[in-house]
Amino acid sequence: MSERYANIVGWGKYTPEQVLTNADLERLVETSDEWIFKRTGIRERRIVSPTENTSDMAIAAARDALAIADVRARDLGLIIVATSSPDYLTPPVSSQVQHALGARDVGAFTLVAGCAGFVYALTTAQQYIANGVCDNVLVIGVELLSRFVDYTDRSTCVLFGDGAGAVVLQVSNEPAGVLSSVLGSDGSGAEHLILPGGGTANPPTHETIDQGLHTLKMNGNQVFRFASRIIGKALRQVIQQAGLTSDDIDLFIPHQANLRIIESAAKYVGFPEEKIFINIDRYGNTSAASIPIALVEAFEQGRAKVGDTLAFVAFGAGLSWAAAVVKVAERVKPIPFLHSRRKTPAWISAFNPLNTVVVKPLGTVLGLLQAGIQRLTSWFRRNQS
Ligand code: ACO
Repeated sequence: MSERYANIVGWGKYTPEQVLTNADLERLVETSDEWIFKRTGIRERRIVSPTENTSDMAIAAARDALAIADVRARDLGLIIVATSSPDYLTPPVSSQVQHALGARDVGAFTLVAGCAGFVYALTTAQQYIANGVCDNVLVIGVELLSRFVDYTDRSTCVLFGDGAGAVVLQVSNEPAGVLSSVLGSDGSGAEHLILPGGGTANPPTHETIDQGLHTLKMNGNQVFRFASRIIGKALRQVIQQAGLTSDDIDLFIPHQANLRIIESAAKYVGFPEEKIFINIDRYGNTSAASIPIALVEAFEQGRAKVGDTLAFVAFGAGLSWAAAVVKVAERVKPIPFLHSRRKTPAWISAFNPLNTVVVKPLGTVLGLLQAGIQRLTSWFRRNQS
């Protein structure tokens, strides 16, 4: 039996429209654009509207990922949603997403591993595909931390933003998807990044609300030290495990928490600046959503493409961390070139004849052309060298 790999064949993101700039924060707390940018690399972040929830962002990102993958929701084998900020403590947000997508009876679960959640989920999904349990798995990283941030606490409120990113993993015979992964956890540092209220330790009462226990508390300095110590090593380990060196990595897509942490990890393994993908300036720290949002942007900008080997590394609450080396292999089906982007509500798309009659076939034709051009280009490149 040939090996089963889990190739990334679809990707999508959702970033709310409302932008919260450093200048806006200057009006809320005693801080400055200069301090925030110099210490973190953040210029602005996105914040959801009061009517949007975590599930809405996850569903929007997932719809795009399924459209690009050309996979119907009901053909999924599993849905994993990585988040620390679900709509409700129960039911799991994964079931809300499964239902909204029309993924009838498809298994779904929510995975909580702080900012490392997406890489944990990706690794888990890969196992289901490799073991022959599923052929298509939807993995979503989503976070709505703005509802848990204390906008009077300058040490946390400048950092976090909202958003979602999703990928579809599909079985492939070619070496693809997660080639190696490293997962780690050190609960001795749990109190350094904690939302103390709302769980069994401090169920919600008037007192817990008065004490402000329902917002994120962070000892930034300790988290910074932990991250600087751990992620360079995890990165080196995961690259070695894949049987590669840092030269073999085409693009490093780190968790976007702090530019200084990213740069020190990149330096530790010897990645030049041009191999690092950074978008923290525009989104801040979107926790479990940060790597998938960055991955989608890397695809959209052509910085990540078929044939590339990518390295992910993330760290966060737990404390926990995760790293993965991911290869993007050629898809069996060409990527629909003109698939309709978000913003069109699903019910409009469903009744829009253009979508089915013109755009989809046109998208497929252009997709085939694009795939043909890609093949010709790689043939010429191979024959030139
Ligand atoms: N504006 C102005 N001054 C500030 C601000 C602010 N927004 N925040 C803190 N300061 C002050 C502090 O009060 C302190 O003042 P003092 O010296 O008078 O006491 C000074 O700036 C230095 O504070 P530090 O905390 O030492 O600053 P540091 O350089 O460590 O930067 C930061 C703080 C940015 C939070 C950094 O520690 C960091 O990024 N840590 C990692 C956080 C992180 O990545 N968390 C992600 C986990 S993700 C998850 O799972 C949800």
